[in-house]
Amino acid sequence: MEKGIRIAELFRDEKKWLGKTALVQGWVKTMRDSKAGVGFIELNDGSTLKGLQIVTQLEGRDYSAILKQITTGSAILAEGLVSASPGKGQSIELQADRLHLYGGADPATYPLQKKRHSFEYLRQIAHLRPRTNTLGAIARVRNQLSFAIHQFFQDRGFYYVHTPVITASDCEGAGETFRVTTLDPARPPAAGLEDPYRDDFFQKPAYLTVSGQLQAEIYALALGSVYTFGPTFRAEDSNTSRHLAEFWMVEPEMAFHDLQDNLEVALAFIKYLTETMLTKCSEEVDFFTRFIEPELTKRLEKAAKSAFEIITYTEAVDILTRSKESFAYPVEWGSDLQAEHERYITEKALGRPVGITNFPRALKPFYMRVNEDQKTVAAMDILVPGIGEIIGGSQREERLDVLLEQMRLKAIAPEDYRWYVELREFGSAPHSGFGLGFERLIQFVTGIPNIREAIPFPRTPGHAEF
Ligand code: 4AD
Ligand code: MG
Repeated sequence: MEKGIRIAELFRDEKKWLGKTALVQGWVKTMRDSKAGVGFIELNDGSTLKGLQIVTQLEGRDYSAILKQITTGSAILAEGLVSASPGKGQSIELQADRLHLYGGADPATYPLQKKRHSFEYLRQIAHLRPRTNTLGAIARVRNQLSFAIHQFFQDRGFYYVHTPVITASDCEGAGETFRVTTLDPARPPAAGLEDPYRDDFFQKPAYLTVSGQLQAEIYALALGSVYTFGPTFRAEDSNTSRHLAEFWMVEPEMAFHDLQDNLEVALAFIKYLTETMLTKCSEEVDFFTRFIEPELTKRLEKAAKSAFEIITYTEAVDILTRSKESFAYPVEWGSDLQAEHERYITEKALGRPVGITNFPRALKPFYMRVNEDQKTVAAMDILVPGIGEIIGGSQREERLDVLLEQMRLKAIAPEDYRWYVELREFGSAPHSGFGLGFERLIQFVTGIPNIREAIPFPRTPGHAEF
């Protein structure tokens, strides 16, 4: 198979390529004929937002048959001289003297037309939507930031560990788990069976993981600093712009780190990722600022450079109760912060990313370390403008007696978490960590309003196509 040059590279090394022959392969964005018999194809190959203009003069050769078949959406090869372009908005173009059609696309039925389509419509054609400017740009941003996540932790001596997708524990204790079973609902175990899981694959209830944290703790208490980065699953029946049933989470876990250390790592991490966005994805940042969120560049620069605000939960409740804003959910000490509260704090009250610490013990999972006041735990949430919570983390309870008391209060059977308890019996140590929702990060750095555009194949209630 012939291999061409990626269009992004062609633009990058424009000077080197001028006057040389290049071969490109990609999909036709637009196609038009001029009266003089010259055709103009805008070709995109997914490596950059910019399309390469292909001029099809094809002197002395009859390409009219193939030109007729080249329509928007077709996959083609073009080879020819790279020349300076007289056209606006591009410095080079390709004067094709060879064209090959791999696969056509019937204009009568090709679902992606030149006009702008709604995101809702594009979700129904998730097999074609990465060919659009926006979804293609998001795919490149996901790639770049995934790499940056590994770079950040690798540079700091963290080990990448692989935590299981199938688990018997519910880390967050919220009961939002998907079951994993080989039992057939059409033939359920007989009623009154002593062990209803006797014939099930794992012979016990098993779930898709909601978080890799508990297993990451095992490795942190052996390797020091570790992180996991993988898919997590939550059967929360919420149709919002920031919830998915399947999303990716980055979870660092660090031995000998307290809540303050944890906060510092999380803030450095967000700064690193926003900086990466500005330096490595500048083309996409410009695009999203122009077409999606006018404030984006400013927002990223602010997050990359300026300090974050750190307040306690109690201070956050004060800000909210003192505000004149009318919230759908009233706030008082002890109530959970809703998205509207989070956004008010980070967007209106403080106007920058905010860390909130020390939440009421009753609101948070069993594993968080109980503070001296006995009423709060060493939790931290990080909120960003436009989204609200992007990171949730905590210092973990390392004291055996306090952990057992927490489990008792939250009705968790220590037998079910024997290994977790044993980590506190054998060489227990202070440790902490956090989880960053990768798709919420993508929303933050692109300004894309709905999380369903932040992942290639969104899973939400009633939607698991593709
Ligand atoms: O705050 P959460 O529930 O924290 C944990 O799961 C901890 N075990 C993490 C840890 O300490 N290692 O989730 C962490 C982050 C949230 O801040 C949010 O960004 C994201 O995961 N998240 C979701 N993203 C998309 N869809 C959902 N349904 C999400 N639920 C949480
Ligand atoms: Mg949370």
